[in-house]
Amino acid sequence: MSAKHLSRIGLAGNCLKTFQRSILRGLSSVSVKGRSCLTLKDFSPREIQKILWVSADLKERIKREKQHVPLLRGKSAALIFEKRSTRTRMSTETGLALLGGHPCFLAPQDIHLGVNETCADTARVLSGMCDLVLARVQRHATLEELQKASSVPVVNGLSDLYHPIQILADFLTLQEHYGSLAGLTLCWIGDGNNVLHSFMMTAPKLGVHLKIATPKGYEPNQSIVQEAEQLARKHGSQLWLTQDPTAAARDSDVLVTDTWVSMGQEDEKEKRLRDFRGFRVSAQMTGTARPDWTFLHCLPRKKEEVDDEVFYSPRSLVFPEAENRKWTIMGLMASLLTDYQPQTPVPKF
Ligand code: CP
Ligand code: NVA
Repeated sequence: MSAKHLSRIGLAGNCLKTFQRSILRGLSSVSVKGRSCLTLKDFSPREIQKILWVSADLKERIKREKQHVPLLRGKSAALIFEKRSTRTRMSTETGLALLGGHPCFLAPQDIHLGVNETCADTARVLSGMCDLVLARVQRHATLEELQKASSVPVVNGLSDLYHPIQILADFLTLQEHYGSLAGLTLCWIGDGNNVLHSFMMTAPKLGVHLKIATPKGYEPNQSIVQEAEQLARKHGSQLWLTQDPTAAARDSDVLVTDTWVSMGQEDEKEKRLRDFRGFRVSAQMTGTARPDWTFLHCLPRKKEEVDDEVFYSPRSLVFPEAENRKWTIMGLMASLLTDYQPQTPVPKF
């Protein structure tokens, strides 16, 4: 990889192993009960690991062992959606129901939020009626306003800035596939968007190296880049930023992309399709990745950002990744609302 194209921050090495050992020590005592989850930036490595452990445990107990685990019996959640959704809505509704709870879906036309009631008043009212609020919003500030006035946990179901619950599913999927996370190299090819921002706030904490290729003018948010650089230094992982997708793909374990036109950017579609030329994840790129490469995409997928040959390849993890949206939102809700301790062994992270 050309030094000309890439900036390298942080050093890998023995400190990764030390870091790995330290986060596994005492994971049982870690609790995030009562917290909100607007961004994984607010969560420590051990807290993220604990949520992933709870998620893996629920998957094992419910899916494989067919156990009934009514952890959230009597609890309900308000699900506010200002934008479309298939996975987030379905995983949260079915996941909460599976744990014995009751989801209430609130579409923009169903709720007064932002029309004739303030976020703060909506949050106060919902806090008196349910145990958790999940919101998919146009502006991240809406989540912050909801959280400020809410006495129950608020979960970000996607904002313009972050998509934390997607990234929990992605790391559970990679953990299952590779058996551990620390030391993997994840390569993002595409837009500097909400999903990438969440990777940047999480990967360094899990010892995962990040190579990021975005077209000129579509780089990730500068303050998030600075935070990620600090995290990479602190946790001894590497962070690379480039405008060369081919160079980024080389020697990576995981290739990841997302739509080039996020919800709300539909007017920019034509220009974006032009500007992102050369950023389609291609079979040729996978040929330069590590032999056991995998591919992730949060979905929905549009044709332009990835070759069918990659998307439907046996190495593509996109459908297990989508299913894991369910187990991880269940793990997150159980972690925010209860003192649940997993009954299965800690996975290797
Ligand atoms: N990945 C994701 O959040 O999908 P939805 O938009 O369908 O919820
Ligand atoms: N970046 C995309 C993610 C969709 C799940 C968007 O915000 O529309």
